[in-house]
Amino acid sequence: MCGIVGYNGRRKAAPILIDSLKRLEYRGYDSAGIAVFNESAIEVYKDKGKIADVEKTLPEITGTVGIGHTRWATHGKPNKVNAHPHVSGNVVVVHNGIIENYEQLKDKLTGSGYIFVSETDTEVLAHLVNYYYKGDLTDAVFSALKDIKGSYAIAVLCGSELVAARKDSPLIIGIGSDENFIASDIPAILKYTRKIIYLDDLEVATVTPDSVSFFDFNKQPVEKKINNIEWDMEAAEKSGYEHFMLKEIHEQPKALHETFAGRISELEGNISLDGLNLTETQVKGIPRISIIACGTSFNAGLLGKYLFEHLTDVHVDVEIASEFRYAHSSPGSLVIAITQSGETADTLAALREAKGFGCRTLAITNVVGSTITREVDGVIYIRSGPEIGVAATKTFVSQLGVLYLLAFYFGKCKGKLSSDSIKRMLASLKRIPAQITRINSNKEIIRKYAEKFSASNDIFFIGRTFNYPIALEGALKLKEISYIHAEGYAAGELKHGPLALITKNTPVIAIATKGLIYDKMVNNIKEVKAREAPIIAIADEKDTEIEKYVDAVIKIPATEDILSPILAIVVMQLFSYYTARARNCPIDQPRNLAKSVTVE
Ligand code: F6R
Repeated sequence: MCGIVGYNGRRKAAPILIDSLKRLEYRGYDSAGIAVFNESAIEVYKDKGKIADVEKTLPEITGTVGIGHTRWATHGKPNKVNAHPHVSGNVVVVHNGIIENYEQLKDKLTGSGYIFVSETDTEVLAHLVNYYYKGDLTDAVFSALKDIKGSYAIAVLCGSELVAARKDSPLIIGIGSDENFIASDIPAILKYTRKIIYLDDLEVATVTPDSVSFFDFNKQPVEKKINNIEWDMEAAEKSGYEHFMLKEIHEQPKALHETFAGRISELEGNISLDGLNLTETQVKGIPRISIIACGTSFNAGLLGKYLFEHLTDVHVDVEIASEFRYAHSSPGSLVIAITQSGETADTLAALREAKGFGCRTLAITNVVGSTITREVDGVIYIRSGPEIGVAATKTFVSQLGVLYLLAFYFGKCKGKLSSDSIKRMLASLKRIPAQITRINSNKEIIRKYAEKFSASNDIFFIGRTFNYPIALEGALKLKEISYIHAEGYAAGELKHGPLALITKNTPVIAIATKGLIYDKMVNNIKEVKAREAPIIAIADEKDTEIEKYVDAVIKIPATEDILSPILAIVVMQLFSYYTARARNCPIDQPRNLAKSVTVE
């Protein structure tokens, strides 16, 4: 995610801000900037690219209070204007999160004479604080935050006044001697202090060189506990997790929260997909969809096919991007390219092919301004934040999040889904992040089974309908990071040949959540059991029957049949992770896999 730093003390602020930002570089970013109150005015230095590039442009700045930011674009391209800090008169703001009602606030502020120069949602915050500023920055921040819907971690500077606040996005305060710090993550300031205070949701902090005052949302003072950080730098970068992959699996609830932010109103049953660039009438007229993608993104696309075909009358083909050019697409089709990086050469080549056929194109991606986003008619960003582990985890879950929203929206436009069903499904979808947190907190049982089977030569994953793509993704994840031979199969297909490979030495992981095909899945499990294979079932927490047919059960929270894949995959990711860990594999940098594959 984006990084925030702030400093108020007796030393020169600029070198400390730059150094602190560099300590957040490992998280990924596309632009950076700082603002320092220098004698009588605030000076801002920011640009697209690396922190070191911004550093090169800095003159001698003697000011001792300032803020800084590394940005990972979610609204607007990565460029100088969109980089933080954002300025409104004497007010300067850095922000992580998403302001969901920024369009409404922008209209209001434009009406009051404010001029917007960037494409970001953050600029609205700068103007709003400026609008309310009457000589006390803390008061102005409180007033502004009351108008805001969404998530935020912010640091605001006005003259030498420095204020921080958070809701649903992390922010900490570092306590020094004659100096205090703000940061979005501990590594940024660990070099300067180990005394850390965690800001809680809806709290505001006023930071001076000698003191930090904390307030709740009613502006009542709050007592906060100082924590002494014992971690070393490397552990701190991973927030205490052993690997980025495990950290990112745990970040999935937050990533999904961002994916959904501002796009769902479950009470009215409305879905708004910024960037889709299709009217309801145009959606209604789409007869056919082709999804093109590679690897993990292909598996997301395959679930997309099941969703669209279940919820709408649209026929969907899913093509491995490198094979698409040898297939045909009709000009009326909507072609959806799914790619976390937005740079995959095979997907880009297939997309260009589709444009050659005269198809309308849409990208689902994580990287704002990536090559694919510049070549399509519409883009929906998945907003996972940077993913450092090479094997995709949170970007896959966020891709699924977008595909659910898209399929519900198409179902609604095409008159195939009643308003009540959409409201029900959106309400269930909104519960998914908390349900993923519950699976994560149950990871010890998954670790136990992963370790037990980690010496296997072959592992099979089986599922049906919505969970068939998850069987494929489970197998892919295991292959990528543990180097065990793994196969994902549609469970009904085993009897057409692959059963020959199932023996007592071939563990099988079966996704058997309650739904349309539960009984059929149980039959497939019995076929496997007859070959004496050890079976682990992933089943609903209320299912008491499945124990009879399998050797072990990993329970997941119950949800709608079509939503179960987004929970089942978390078990698969953790299973792969702990298997690879037991085999001492280099989990975050597996062999022969790159984060962005730019060769065909
Ligand atoms: C799997 C993985 C790869 C990518 C594939 C496509 O963990 O990382 O299989 O999914 O290379 O990449 P994107 O989504 O960037 O197009």
